[in-house]
Amino acid sequence: MKPFCALMWTAALAVASCLATAEESTGDTDQVRRAAHVCAACHGEGGNSTVAMFPKLAGQQAAYTIAQLSAFRSEKRAEQDAQAYMWGISALLDDAAIQGLAEYFASQAPTPGKTGDAKLIRKGKHIYQEGIPSKGVQACSSCHGDDAEGASVFPRLAGQHAAYVFKQQKIFGTRLRPHGIVMAGVTKNMTQGEMRAVAEYVQSK
Ligand code: HEC
Ligand code: HEC
Repeated sequence: MKPFCALMWTAALAVASCLATAEESTGDTDQVRRAAHVCAACHGEGGNSTVAMFPKLAGQQAAYTIAQLSAFRSEKRAEQDAQAYMWGISALLDDAAIQGLAEYFASQAPTPGKTGDAKLIRKGKHIYQEGIPSKGVQACSSCHGDDAEGASVFPRLAGQHAAYVFKQQKIFGTRLRPHGIVMAGVTKNMTQGEMRAVAEYVQSK
């Protein structure tokens, strides 16, 4: 077994045992905190992941996190890493646990993002704020907010790992993230260079 697979199974078992001890609803704060501790193995303490393949969850919009955990659990969000890392663990979460975890991560203070290549960030900022009208690419800010803080089902992008943001933009055009239908429309005319620039910009926020 690869180390991360082993980690995943250990994590899944730990979540199962935390949740199994809950008398009734897993929305209970202590239960949620203990479950969140398991998530921290990959997503970092309080959801502030330091590893690019594991998205940051700290400060994320609760409604968005609920939608994603539900999409993993129903096996609709089906990219390879989603299958390998999130299907098993989300299958152990009932609706109350999902809600509790989403609220917990929304309430955690996100650490500031990393700055990178200044030229790329400038290009990304322009796309983020203005879109690319000649290609029908809408401004990201119109849904994700001026400061990339997100709102409800529109995720926070500020400070998110650039490699993760880049990968998701490529996935929206495929059938592996069907809830991202709005995003498929946004990314369909973008080049990978443009996706990379905007990813670098939001990471720096
Ligand atoms: C073994 C590692 C691992 C563990 C443990 C884990 N995750 Fe994940 N999680 C991932 C990976 C990898 C992804 C990115 C999947 C992708 O690229 O599609 C992810 C993605 C997510 C996303 C989507 C984030 C976004 O911005 O769209 C959410 C929400 C999430 N995880 C919540 C949780 C919660 C809650 C727990 C604990 C109950 C948890 N994860 C435990 C590895 C893990
Ligand atoms: C019309 C509204 C809208 C616009 C404009 C928009 N987005 Fe989104 N975006 C969404 C929605 C809705 C989601 C959540 C999709 C889902 O639930 O899977 C999303 C999700 C994302 C995600 C996934 C985040 C994660 O944590 O997995 C990324 C990355 C993203 N958008 C980047 C962008 C970029 C870059 C732009 C500008 C080029 C942009 N978006 C413009 C609505 C929009």
